[in-house]
Amino acid sequence: MTSEGGKVFPEGPDSHAVVPLERVVISLGGSILVPGDGDGPYLTRLAALLSDLSSGRKIFAVTGGGRISRYYIETGRSLGARERRLDELGIEVTRMNARLLAIALGKLANPEPAKTYTEATRLARRHPIVVMGGTAPGWTTDRVAASLARVLHAERLVNATSVDGVYAEDPKENPFARRFQRLTHQELIDLMGEGHTRAAPAIVFDPVAARVIAQAKIPLLVVHGRDLDALRGAILGETFHGTTVTG
Ligand code: UTP
Repeated sequence: MTSEGGKVFPEGPDSHAVVPLERVVISLGGSILVPGDGDGPYLTRLAALLSDLSSGRKIFAVTGGGRISRYYIETGRSLGARERRLDELGIEVTRMNARLLAIALGKLANPEPAKTYTEATRLARRHPIVVMGGTAPGWTTDRVAASLARVLHAERLVNATSVDGVYAEDPKENPFARRFQRLTHQELIDLMGEGHTRAAPAIVFDPVAARVIAQAKIPLLVVHGRDLDALRGAILGETFHGTTVTG
């Protein structure tokens, strides 16, 4: 397996049987990976799905930190730690979650999470699925996933999160909030606002990450990560229950 100019070749660029594999990046929120609710069985089913889909594409899974990273960050903050050190705690947890997913995936994935995009690209030569956590303090794993998708010239980025799409208002607060089936990149940017404030109602995707994929013209598919039928459809780029964001 080799990689050249953003394309991944199953048998090297000179092979006669060259079929460039598509690349799909998935931002797997910690909130759906390890919420403390049947996580083991869910990870088993998720791994089976990713394994099934990895025969026709390269899958890059970027894992979030969820409640466990929040616990460490809040506890560290109560001890007076600076933001950078708190972010470092968060990054460690995202990498721990990547390791957990790698355990569920067995031989299909790299056991040691990629720390850079170059490393992720290199690992894709040997593994059908590449797992990765956070990279730099001050970032989110959505932003890492968006930047990785840009570097790889990925066909699509899937945001597997704890809501089933992008809503006009917080659906947890207003059960009648409208879910968007389709949005343009600009509409997503306008909805997500400027900052990364968790208090904002409709933030399901990091606003900086939204700008990265808008610039790179990469479609974003927002899906509930625990709905594996929807996740399958989104990874395949087929019809799915969620929100599609395109240029
Ligand atoms: P997440 O990306 O998981 O943040 O990173 P999140 O917003 O809590 O997302 P969910 O809930 O998993 O969907 C957890 C924390 O780790 C640090 C940040 O402090 C972030 O809040 N982090 C993560 C970084 O500093 N850099 C990274 O590249 C990734």
